Amino acid sequence: MSIPCPTLRRDGDRVVILDQTRLPWQEVFVPLDSLSDAAAAIRDMQVRGAPLIGATAAFGIALALRDDASDAALQAADACLRATRPTAVNLHWALDRMQDALRALPAAARRAAAWNAAEAIRAGDAAANAAIGRHGLAVLQPLAAAATRPLQLMTHCNAGWLATCGHGTALAPIYAAHAAGLDLHVWVSETRPRNQGLLTAWELARAGVPHTLVADNAAGWLIAEGRVDAVITGADRIAANGDSANKVGTYLKALAARAHGVPFYIAAPRSTIDFGCPDGRAIPIEERSADEVRLIHGIADTAGGAPLCVRIAADATAACNPAFDVTPAALLDGIICEFGVFPATALAAVAQR
Ligand code: MRU
Repeated sequence: MSIPCPTLRRDGDRVVILDQTRLPWQEVFVPLDSLSDAAAAIRDMQVRGAPLIGATAAFGIALALRDDASDAALQAADACLRATRPTAVNLHWALDRMQDALRALPAAARRAAAWNAAEAIRAGDAAANAAIGRHGLAVLQPLAAAATRPLQLMTHCNAGWLATCGHGTALAPIYAAHAAGLDLHVWVSETRPRNQGLLTAWELARAGVPHTLVADNAAGWLIAEGRVDAVITGADRIAANGDSANKVGTYLKALAARAHGVPFYIAAPRSTIDFGCPDGRAIPIEERSADEVRLIHGIADTAGGAPLCVRIAADATAACNPAFDVTPAALLDGIICEFGVFPATALAAVAQR
């Protein structure tokens, strides 16, 4: 069954995505017409967020097989998509699912099967995230009951519906809590250098959830001052021992949270857990272009301002851009997935599901 999803949808024999490189300033939907369009959309972060990367790759396979459903085309598309971004394991999870659904089929049966399998991945992600919202709400309710002011939550990057096929992961409990009438406020960290925090602020504003944008470096001070009751982020890959890779800056928040006794949760679907990866040291960390650090994107500060790209560091300035970091399992108070809330060091129970 098709679930409406603004981030990604099938439109006849092509796919339409919401181009996240234009947000929060412009809401532009663009068609993906081929495998190379899908691969470029992932690589260039027109679509981003681990679950949405996986779903886009699945639809990329469907686009590839639309043009050529041979074994060779299937394997070439698989290899092309796997090479787009290294850290989010949902990419490999989705491509493995597509392989399982398609490999044994005769070429003539693959086209329709590929669209169906991609659609199933998309619908499954939305359903998993809805369940994360319900389990996360149960985590937030007692914290809200104990609070003497609106519950103060902090998140990092964007793990909302933009990053998934519906509801979001870290934002799913927040949306569920807001819908349940909990009085809450969200600290949104900017998330340099790509500023995905702006996407979170955009999402929360649309949903009417009270929030405040802060520079990444303000997080430690806010936590130390007792102005944060819990931190929730998403993840791009969770190792079997619970070590979790997420957007760079997550680790610093987890350290500050632990130092000040503030609970830190990761919300992620089963598709983000990599049981083949023993611990955080085995997680590949994407290193992106140094120009993402040297340049900043926005709009001119005038009425109807035009998109602008501004250089903030000289071309010759050396810049390093690791896109993710790893938070050790010991710093996590729990992992909220579609099956419930688990200690990060006891994920084996999830593997059985
Ligand atoms: O580089 P991005 O924007 O794809 O990174 C996204 C994140 O780090 C998210 O927190 C993570 O993918 C979880 S999304 C539900």
